[in-house]
Amino acid sequence: MSLKAVIFDLDGVIVSTDEFHYQGWKRMADEEGIYFDRKINEDLRGVSRMESLRIVLKKALREYSTEEKAVLADRKNKYYKELLQNITPNDILPGTLDVLRELDKRNIKTAIASSSKNAWRILELIGLSSAFDAVADGNDIKNSKPDPEVFLLAAKRLSIDPFDCVGVEDAEAGIDSILAANMKAVGLGYASAYPKAHYRVKDLTCIDIEKLLLGRDVD
Ligand code: BG6
Ligand code: MG
Repeated sequence: MSLKAVIFDLDGVIVSTDEFHYQGWKRMADEEGIYFDRKINEDLRGVSRMESLRIVLKKALREYSTEEKAVLADRKNKYYKELLQNITPNDILPGTLDVLRELDKRNIKTAIASSSKNAWRILELIGLSSAFDAVADGNDIKNSKPDPEVFLLAAKRLSIDPFDCVGVEDAEAGIDSILAANMKAVGLGYASAYPKAHYRVKDLTCIDIEKLLLGRDVD
């Protein structure tokens, strides 16, 4: 039976903001004298800003107070937003617009489920702020991925049962979030190597719409 909605993660699925997140954390960490590298950055994929900071601070040489942590997170976000200013519709990842067109033709609902508090800003910058039937983001939730909250909220905003939804993710934490929401899980990019995903592909250019709507690889 075909599923009724596709819920996409944003960062790493629709647009590649990973490098900007890395640069933002790296600048903040260097200023604080905290060791940070691309390998540690991989652990930040899909998780919230404050959870990311908690991971970055594991290498800190001292304890940081709650107030100091808020300042560090704001500073990283400021650096990140400076870099974000340069993104345009040209940064929409290959395959995205074709997949959205195919889903629209079939009357399949679409939504965004993102951990980011910058999701709307990004959607506006890439010209997709009205391309989805619903958006749930980091401002709407208490519990970040791998908790299912953001995917469940996106399904609720679509008025579609989670069981009839498929989630598309590039992060392991995101796949775990989709599975905890009782949805089918598609793993792209980094998550294409994650065995828990039901259907795994390199990126949106390689996606088979029939398989996407079955939420599994049928070969
Ligand atoms: C996710 C990214 O989409 O959003 C994470 O994959 C990021 O790397 C998280 O930490 C929170 O983003 P923001 O924009 O709220 O700092
Ligand atoms: Mg992502």
